[in-house]
Amino acid sequence: MTSTEDSNPSLELEEKRYEFSGHLLKISTFRGTYLGVSAFVWEPGLVLCRYFENENIDFTGKKVLELGSGTGIVGILAVLLGGDVTLTDKAYVLKQIEYNVVANIPTTSRHRSKVRALAWGNDQGNFSSDFDFILGSDIVYNPPHFPGLLQTLLHLCNTKTTVYMSSNLKAREGAVNFHEELLPKQFNSELIHTSGNNYIYKVTKKAPHDEH
Ligand SMILES: C[S@@+](CC[C@H](N)C(=O)[O-])C[C@H]1O[C@@H](n2cnc3c(N)ncnc32)[C@H](O)[C@@H]1O
Repeated sequence: MTSTEDSNPSLELEEKRYEFSGHLLKISTFRGTYLGVSAFVWEPGLVLCRYFENENIDFTGKKVLELGSGTGIVGILAVLLGGDVTLTDKAYVLKQIEYNVVANIPTTSRHRSKVRALAWGNDQGNFSSDFDFILGSDIVYNPPHFPGLLQTLLHLCNTKTTVYMSSNLKAREGAVNFHEELLPKQFNSELIHTSGNNYIYKVTKKAPHDEH
């Protein structure tokens, strides 16, 4: 543990450092609170960040939304790569994301980041459908949430939106079914990278006449 916030003495922050695309990221997790799976940086997130680095992905001028940000590591990198990024998660996770946004995004670029609550299947109506990119790392692991996640993706995407999803297909319950059966009903999905058990898919919404 590296520090304790004065405003909440029971809050223990654990900081880890990562480097992607020439940016040193200091990512803290709130260990003294119950954030469950959100209080970790998961491998699919790191694999997606490395993919952005290796492919020289540039989000400059692009409108990006991240689902299930957790610590915010992927969305924060997308801001540092030029994007105008909305990082989202359940409401109780937002303080951790905001902490990492402030710690990693210079004040001169912070206007390109927003942190907002988006619980899948409930809150997507509060968001527009004009995003260039949707990002989701390790968000496919809980089958009862799949219908809400699909409903959210359908709302947020137009046919020009590119979705990058990074999932652990071996460790996560239902992930194979989600990517091979459920998602392809309404989206085109292409496997673009694998690293161990982590698979990155590039996904686009089918035009209405393409659905079957
Ligand atoms: C395994 S963590 C992955 C976090 C991060 N993307 C990463 O790769 O490290 C899954 C994240 O999805 C969020 N999540 C799970 N179910 C959700 C739902 N129904 N609505 C919104 N977010 C959800 C969790 O709060 C958590 O932060």
